[in-house]
Amino acid sequence: MKHNDILAAMISPLCSWYEKNKRQLPWRENRDPYRVWVSEIMLQQTRVEAALPYYKRFLEALPTVEALAKAPEELILKLWEGLGYYSRVRNMQKAAVTVVEEYNGKFPADRKLLSRLSGIGEYTAGAVASIAFNLPEPAVDGNVLRVVARLLNDDTDIMLPAFKKEVQAELSKVYPLASDCGDLTQAIMELGALICIPGGVPRCDACPLAHLCKAREEGREQLLPVRKVKKEKKLFNRTVFVMEHGGKVALVKRPKGGVLAACGNFRRLRGT
Ligand code: ADE
Repeated sequence: MKHNDILAAMISPLCSWYEKNKRQLPWRENRDPYRVWVSEIMLQQTRVEAALPYYKRFLEALPTVEALAKAPEELILKLWEGLGYYSRVRNMQKAAVTVVEEYNGKFPADRKLLSRLSGIGEYTAGAVASIAFNLPEPAVDGNVLRVVARLLNDDTDIMLPAFKKEVQAELSKVYPLASDCGDLTQAIMELGALICIPGGVPRCDACPLAHLCKAREEGREQLLPVRKVKKEKKLFNRTVFVMEHGGKVALVKRPKGGVLAACGNFRRLRGT
């Protein structure tokens, strides 16, 4: 079987499996692009279980793209507190303003236009396009790379951008075969989360694609995917000055730009 034949052949068993085994998650209740988008941004940095309370809280406070567009910065940062990477929620607000002002409050049903919105990269554009609009656009994240590397018994380093591009291109060819492209996107992710898991032993006995999997055929499923070790992180020693008085600590808000701006989480100047 050629690569593309395997990917084409996975669609039907994978989508049937997903239908029976998918987790009930709040962003799966409907296909509102706003809800799908919020979930995908959160899930880029947080596991499903950990994201759930944040997701519910965010959607309760800001149920629509209009509400996010006009929310005070204090509120959106508060809602994001604990998730980290505050620049993501700031970008979300910028994107929300664009959707309201330029698209009349409706997310564009077009991958290219979606990816021009602030903070929406290739992955998120594909996820929103397929899940919310049923467009034949794959969304390739680490889960998808792992599943495909195993299915095709491919030794390429999955951290290489060229591999991601190739997977994206190959999946783009077979997506039109799916009757529901959003289900296909979520089915691959669900398989990666529940069956074709990272680390440990994948649950091949329960896998709807075991009969197609080249890595399994060769007994190599635990050797894949190949992932080159990231460069060691640099460590810096810094002296920190903490001002404390009467059980209170002085905090200042970090500027939006500059070093570590993305993780700035000092929000208030409390009494000294
Ligand atoms: N990870 C990323 N997107 C997801 C989704 N829609 N459902 C479950 N896990 C995910």
